[in-house]
Amino acid sequence: MRLTAVVTALFLTTGGTPIMAEEKGNIDKGRTVAQKHCTRCHVVGKFNPGGGISSTPSFQLLVKRRPDYKERFETFHARRPHPAFLSIKGIGRLRPDLPPNAQPVELTEQDVLNISAFIETLKPKKKP
Ligand code: HEC
Repeated sequence: MRLTAVVTALFLTTGGTPIMAEEKGNIDKGRTVAQKHCTRCHVVGKFNPGGGISSTPSFQLLVKRRPDYKERFETFHARRPHPAFLSIKGIGRLRPDLPPNAQPVELTEQDVLNISAFIETLKPKKKP
């Protein structure tokens, strides 16, 4: 999992402090990519409240229920069912041996970082 290693290393080494601009996730771009490519199956924030596929967890539920949601979003491309239909530019499909089980999607590594940045905006607000 080369990309996973790269993305994870990136997050570990920065420790949350700002890094080179092009390596930082962009919330607006992440939102756009998520709305375009993830809403087919996931409910994404307030964008498609009644949408998605019922058996697929909404993004806000993942953020709320999974303490390790950051890692899950940084590596979602390697987590089932995504590897079968998702490819990363320059790397290709992570599981070319599997028949695509859904309409193929191609993202860049920057897209994955951008989605991870957008995901932070779905965190439930802490009650005062
Ligand atoms: C073809 C349908 C489909 C599309 C498109 C899709 N997903 Fe998923 N995703 C799923 C399903 C189904 C699950 C639940 C898998 C499970 O729990 O075993 C899931 C789970 C996840 C999880 C949790 C993984 C885990 O191991 O906990 C994340 C994070 C995720 N998706 C992110 C995304 C992102 C980001 C996109 C858009 C770029 C996306 N997904 C597009 C079907 C899809």
